[in-house]
Amino acid sequence: MSTAPGVVDLATRRAALPDWPQGWYVVARASDLPPRGVRTARIAGHDIVLFRTAQGVLGALDAHCPHMGAHLGRGRVDGEHLECALHCWRLATDGGVCGRDQRTRAWPVREHAGLVMLEAGQGRMVPEAGGEDFDWTRATLLEIDTPWHGLVANGFDMVHLCTVHRRDLLETPRVTTEPGKRCTLHYVSRVRGNEWSDRLMRWLSRDRIDVRVHCYGPVTTVETDLGFTRTSACIGMTPAGAGTRLFVSFGVRRGPFRRLRLALTRALFTAFLRRDLGVVEGMKLRTDVDDAILQKLFEFLRTLRPVRPVAGE
Ligand code: FES
Ligand SMILES: [Fe+2]
Repeated sequence: MSTAPGVVDLATRRAALPDWPQGWYVVARASDLPPRGVRTARIAGHDIVLFRTAQGVLGALDAHCPHMGAHLGRGRVDGEHLECALHCWRLATDGGVCGRDQRTRAWPVREHAGLVMLEAGQGRMVPEAGGEDFDWTRATLLEIDTPWHGLVANGFDMVHLCTVHRRDLLETPRVTTEPGKRCTLHYVSRVRGNEWSDRLMRWLSRDRIDVRVHCYGPVTTVETDLGFTRTSACIGMTPAGAGTRLFVSFGVRRGPFRRLRLALTRALFTAFLRRDLGVVEGMKLRTDVDDAILQKLFEFLRTLRPVRPVAGE
C-alpha cells in the first residue's frame, strides 16, 4: 500500500537506527592524552591505539602491531613514533613503519573542544562546536543505561522541553537536514521553572534563549545564544553495551572573567542535563512516535551508513 507524500509509513518509522554510523567519535579527553601519552579505544569492534608524539601530534592506528600483532597500547612513544613493546618496531602517525616497506591503518584524528575525535568512515562532516575563539572546560565523562539514539532524540524533543525542563517555546522550532551530514534544530525558549538555575538563566538571558542543536551522528553540539554572550557544548556518544558512554565539554568565548564564565556555563548546562539523565536512564527508544521533528531526526540517522565491520567478523 502506498503512503501519501510527506507521510512516513509505520514500517519506516520502526526501522532500526544504525548503532555505529560512520562519522566522528569522541575517544578521549584531550587532557588525558598529553605528549608521549598512549590510550586505547574500541569503535564498532575495531581496536585502536591513540598516542600523542613528543611534539604534540596526535596519532590513531589499528591497535595490533603489523609485525606479530602485539597490542600497541602496551607500547611507548619515542619522539615522533610509537614503539611496539615486543620487538620495538617504530610506527609513525601516518601508519608507516620506520625502515620498512610496511604500514598499518591510520585513522583520521583531531582535537576539538577539549576532546579527541576520530573518524570512522570517510569524508564525514567534521563536527564544529563554538568557534576559533572559544575556551573549553575539561570534559565530563558519564555512562548511562540508554542507547545514544535516545539521548540525541532528547535534544530534539520539544515536548520534554516543557515537561522536564520547564521552558516555553517563543517561536515555532525549525529543523533542517543536510542528508548524510547533519541535522539541525533551531528553537527559541523562555524559562518557566523556579529552581536556582532557572532563575539565574532567566536573569542572564533576559528570558530569551536561542538554541541550535546540531546532530552529526555520534557527536552533537549545542550552541546557546543569550544575547550578550554565546556558549557551546560538545557531546560525544559511543555505544557501551546497551547504554552509552558520554563525553561532554562546555565552551565560552575568550574574554574577561573567563574562569567565572566557564564555571557558570558548566553549572547551568549540568543542571539542565541532570534533569534529562534522571528521566531517560533505562529508556528503550521507540521511533514510531508521532512527532514531526523527531521523525526528521530519525530519517537523518537512517541515512548514515554503518561503519564497516572488522575483517573476518
Ligand atoms: S609484534 Fe610489534 S614489533 Fe613485533
Ligand atoms: Fe533535555
